Amino acid sequence: MVKGGRPLTGKVAVSGAKNAVLPIIAASVLAGGQVQIDDVPNLTDVETICQVISSLGASVSREGNQILVNPTGIDAYEAPHELVSQMRASVVVMGALLARMGRAKISHPGGCAIGTRPINWHLKGLEALGAEVKINHGYLEATTSGLVGARIYLDFPSVGATENIMMAASMAKGVTVIENAAQEPEVVDLANFLNEMGGKVRGAGTNIIKIEGVSSLGGATHSIIPDRIEAGSFLVAAALTAGDVLVENVIVDHLKPVIAKLREAGAEVSEEETGLRVRGSSSLSAIDVKTQVHPGFPTDLQAPLMALTTVAQGTSIITETVFENRFMHVDELKRMGARIRIEGRAAIVEGVRTLTGAPVKATDLRAGAALILAGLVAEGETEIDNIYHIDRGYESIVEKLQSIGADISRR
Ligand code: EPZ
Repeated sequence: MVKGGRPLTGKVAVSGAKNAVLPIIAASVLAGGQVQIDDVPNLTDVETICQVISSLGASVSREGNQILVNPTGIDAYEAPHELVSQMRASVVVMGALLARMGRAKISHPGGCAIGTRPINWHLKGLEALGAEVKINHGYLEATTSGLVGARIYLDFPSVGATENIMMAASMAKGVTVIENAAQEPEVVDLANFLNEMGGKVRGAGTNIIKIEGVSSLGGATHSIIPDRIEAGSFLVAAALTAGDVLVENVIVDHLKPVIAKLREAGAEVSEEETGLRVRGSSSLSAIDVKTQVHPGFPTDLQAPLMALTTVAQGTSIITETVFENRFMHVDELKRMGARIRIEGRAAIVEGVRTLTGAPVKATDLRAGAALILAGLVAEGETEIDNIYHIDRGYESIVEKLQSIGADISRR
């Protein structure tokens, strides 16, 4: 339940990045010794990936925001259907399993609310490295008699495909070059982790990544980078509620697109010693935004930013170029009085003076975040259903928002 009308004030700290920790926990399957991962956020998706590698035989223990993985007991190569169907990102365990066990059996990850989410580029990459992939009874079965480095061109800089190929290539014979690779910060964090285990990955963060295969990888200790999407969501919330919030534990370089857009809308964003301060305004201006792969405006912040444009002055055009169905939040925002029409890949948002609270449903993680943001500024109460989507990607979201003055509670 969210009651609108209060500007957010105070300071809030960002947790470790969900989209960095998921592939890094998958990559711990490659380790020859214990792995310690710090600054791990408490999220249901993290729980799921830990269950996946435990089901393979790894021992996983968690103490607060620290996870210890001992993969030496891994003796299986099948990721169970009930876990993969909960979180399609489990597919990133495939490359690591292939490298360690010479085979991998993963339930074919279905689509999800935001799109069909194919994995053709994952499979093309693994096949290029010498894997044979079959689809049997809803399972992907990959086998190899030994992975060999290859030059792989990605038709699209897919984050997951880049990560899967990087992990498989880390222990392949010879050198792999990924061209048109994803450049997201989470890909860089994974590359750093692989190198801390003794891997030889160069060029992560650019569109050409070179991986020299090694015969074995050791244990490592790694701290997860801060979550730029959680950070961006708080920055937007502060601007939208005409608040004054210091968002701490951020990497400013990862937030350039959203900082630029908030300034364009008329919010004040300044860098301080421990983070970014945002001062919002009750008369924000409309902005146009087009989601792009990194370093462009992140698709994961498209829904939260749309919440801001619903009460900005003027008409905003929001174009989603990464996913084919990532406007599920539009209908719910319209129930709160937003005026939005969709034309192809663009949402045309005509700012209204105020939104009104209403019972709404979260359809996916970032859509859910957008509904919380809209509720923070709507008149009256907003009841959000299906908030399990939100708990997948935002650690302690209710407590964090309460700590900066939001009138929000969990039923
Ligand atoms: C990662 O998903 C993130 N998830 C997503 O975050 C994020 O939105 C996305 O990257 C883009 O930045 C994790 O890291 C766990 P892609 P991923 O492969 O790897 C299509 C969130 O809210 N595609 O870069 O699945 C795909 O359908 C989540 O935290 C293929 O067609 O993204 C999509 O349209 C949501 N074939 C586009 O490419 C493939 O083989 C980008 O997907 C792979 C992808």
